[in-house]
Amino acid sequence: MIRPATVHDVPRISEIINSHAELGRMLFKSYAQLYESLRDFAVFERDGQVLGCTALAIIWADLAEVRSLAVDDAARGQGIGRNLTEWCIAEARRLQIRRLMSLTYEQGFFEKLGFVVVDKDTLPLKVWSDCVRCPKRDGCDEIAMVRTLHDVPVIDAAAAPPTPRGVSIPVLQYVDD
Ligand SMILES: CC(C)(COP(=O)(O)OP(=O)(O)OC[C@H]1O[C@@H](n2cnc3c(N)ncnc32)[C@H](O)[C@@H]1OP(=O)(O)O)[C@@H](O)C(=O)NCCC(=O)NCCS
Repeated sequence: MIRPATVHDVPRISEIINSHAELGRMLFKSYAQLYESLRDFAVFERDGQVLGCTALAIIWADLAEVRSLAVDDAARGQGIGRNLTEWCIAEARRLQIRRLMSLTYEQGFFEKLGFVVVDKDTLPLKVWSDCVRCPKRDGCDEIAMVRTLHDVPVIDAAAAPPTPRGVSIPVLQYVDD
């Protein structure tokens, strides 16, 4: 079963994500980062045990990012990653967000879920805000992949209007497919 995450899930989410992070498969997440973005998270639970997690982060009106997708090593290959990604897709559809993206080393997995490889330079600059925390920021070897939900209407999204005060992160256009 997939359900929204609660604060009780944070230690287990941290354990699963960071066990993969130690092997260089994904970015480490601190408790602070997990609490901060907990509303983005869903977990896969079976017989009372959380076996996987994912988060869907909204980037812009027409783009959401699949983040922190991780399955307990002992439970990989049982369709849990697919279920969690399908939750992200359903959530993007509910929010009427037409595109999902992922930065990943798991190209084959995401291809099975309908994602295609795109040039990293075509993604909006805002996507890279996490890179400051990444040890590989100067030599990023992740693959950028996108899935378009063709049943979700195209939105005439504003670009990045200047704010009267403060600094806004520029959002560059990406190439349409
Ligand atoms: C990537 C990951 C989430 C996949 O989860 P999983 O539960 O093992 O995958 P599933 O069992 O749902 O696999 C779904 C399909 O993808 C295929 N697949 C899984 N990993 C694959 C890979 N590396 N290459 C090609 N195909 C793959 C499966 O064979 C399956 O195909 P099928 O539906 O035709 O049988 C999991 O391996 C994981 O946690 N990896 C480490 C963390 C990570 O890299 N996360 C991604 C960050 S973006």
